[in-house]
Amino acid sequence: MGSLKAASAIAAVVSAKTSPACRNCHPAAEALKSNGASGFVLKRLCYESKRDFRTPGYGVAGDVRAQSGSVNLSSAVLAEPPKLSKIEKWNGSKKLQTQVAPVAPDITTIRSLDWDRDRFDIEFGLSDGTTYNSYIIQGEKLAVIDASHEKFRDLYLSSLKDQIDVSTIDYIIANHTEPDHSGLIPDLLELAPNAKVVGSRVCIQFLQNLVLRPFESISMKGGDTLDLGKGHVLEFVMAPNLHWPDTMFTYDRGTGLLFTCDAFGMHYCSETVYDEDLPSIEPHYRFYYDCLMRPNSKSVLQALKRVGPLDFGVIATGHGPILRYNVPELMSKYEGWSKQALEKQLASIAVLYVSDYGYSDRLSQALARGLTKTNCGVEMMDLNHSDTQELIECVGRNAAVVIMAPPSSGPANEAVTTLFAAVKAAKQPIVIAESYGGDDEPVDTLVQRFVSLGVNSPFPPLRVKEEPTEATYQYYEETGTDLGQYLTQKKAIADKKANLPADIAKAIGRISGGLYVVTAFKGASRGAMIASWVSQASFKPFGVTIAVAKDRAIESLMQVGDSFVLNCLEEGNFAPLMKHFLKRFLPGADRFEGVDWTPATNGSPILNDGIAYLECTVKSRLETPDHWITYAEVTNGNVLKPEKKTAAHHRKIGNYY
Ligand code: FEO
Repeated sequence: MGSLKAASAIAAVVSAKTSPACRNCHPAAEALKSNGASGFVLKRLCYESKRDFRTPGYGVAGDVRAQSGSVNLSSAVLAEPPKLSKIEKWNGSKKLQTQVAPVAPDITTIRSLDWDRDRFDIEFGLSDGTTYNSYIIQGEKLAVIDASHEKFRDLYLSSLKDQIDVSTIDYIIANHTEPDHSGLIPDLLELAPNAKVVGSRVCIQFLQNLVLRPFESISMKGGDTLDLGKGHVLEFVMAPNLHWPDTMFTYDRGTGLLFTCDAFGMHYCSETVYDEDLPSIEPHYRFYYDCLMRPNSKSVLQALKRVGPLDFGVIATGHGPILRYNVPELMSKYEGWSKQALEKQLASIAVLYVSDYGYSDRLSQALARGLTKTNCGVEMMDLNHSDTQELIECVGRNAAVVIMAPPSSGPANEAVTTLFAAVKAAKQPIVIAESYGGDDEPVDTLVQRFVSLGVNSPFPPLRVKEEPTEATYQYYEETGTDLGQYLTQKKAIADKKANLPADIAKAIGRISGGLYVVTAFKGASRGAMIASWVSQASFKPFGVTIAVAKDRAIESLMQVGDSFVLNCLEEGNFAPLMKHFLKRFLPGADRFEGVDWTPATNGSPILNDGIAYLECTVKSRLETPDHWITYAEVTNGNVLKPEKKTAAHHRKIGNYY
């Protein structure tokens, strides 16, 4: 068994009762005392505050135990400073590093810091990189929970060898098999051939395809346990679809740590191990939820229900900071957002994808994200792991079906045969999309087959000609939004009319604005929209707010940290530009074809027929029921036609723009 050097760094628990500090007073636990000799830093938590913030059903185990005098060091925010590795470069310039930090008695994290990753599947707008968090537990048995991306091979294995004798690993626990967490599991098995791989049934099946040698495994079901000794009894909680059907959570009864892999994570890379700086991480937490978890709102609520009875205080995530200071608050956000998504749902769409095949999973997530922007619910189902009855029921309860092309043979392809019968009976519209897996069943053949059965296919099949880029994900996301609008248009208009009494609607209509075009480039993605709900919002620095409807395609390009240009249209001469940008563009179409523009210093287009422009960077977003109020600082700007005025926009009724 290996010796866990960093674990020895855990210091004593802080007296809860003596600390008057409050998480309301400061976002992080405050440093009370620094032991210069050892480098240990003692920090305090406000237990009064923690009690106030407790959400029924979500335990803060460590804190409670500390108050009662039963020492559980997982509650003590005490550690030697995290250790950073040397920096390596990947693809010539991208910075990679690992960070090792003790998080609880016998438990250490190795965080792979992917500083410059700028795209992660559909969350293509990463502004702050990401991390892949792996954990070591040294009980009497030695376990590693999740590993890392294979690009971290040298750094991760070197950090791991610094901590333990890798050959003595007893268990490799895989909470989820996407390669960012499992990419180095084959390496671990080479180094520790006697280790048993622990995962859900589906996870073990995935890994058997990934690891090209026999290995011992244990398939876990919800409620199963594994005793590592020294009090570390691990309990497994099935959490399918967060983010693949294989996902499970691992709960350590001894320390109250809950290891959740993708769930409750965020793509945010920093040297700060924990969630101390809530304002900085919140936008990333939300964006990640919207992209990865919102399409699986039902599964999120199921998972929350399953972990409700567990007494945990720390969420050991697979991406971004480990959650320690804001656990009830951040968990309750998942609950609130998921409930809200289900309550507002105007229609539900089945998105059938093929896990671990080409880009099926990622592209289907982009499409699902587009659907959720129109208040549509999504039921994601993996064709590799769905039985016939499940599939028939899924088709039956959804308003439309999106089918990601399966490979030309195998279980996913066989499942399509069931689909032909199920969709024929239910007659839902279908959309077929390529998966870019190298062996896709041809999409035209699939469409023809459905059409011949009398099934409507309202959109042409989605095609991918080259390895997906930001533009491809944008194309899939916009198709999702178009499909959602196609399915819900009548209901949405009726809702809009019903929302406001007529006299108020007329009065609201008297609020006037200007006419503008917001333009944004982000990687290969391009967006534009006509805007009239625009206002100056600050003097120093100059700042503006712009209201962006949640189902606007450009919304994805206006996340915190993104930049754009606000173009002012000319009074009496705005019609050509307005007409152009009000057109209904096909998903992924270039909005700027035929438009005269010049790149701004931030890369987005300045419309040469506008009268002035402002280059802006998004600083924060305020959510309203149907819009995002985007506050942006102005970084540059100029007037193109000094003698002209900005066009005004007058309305008669407030139900519409
Ligand atoms: Fe972080 Fe779904 O992998």
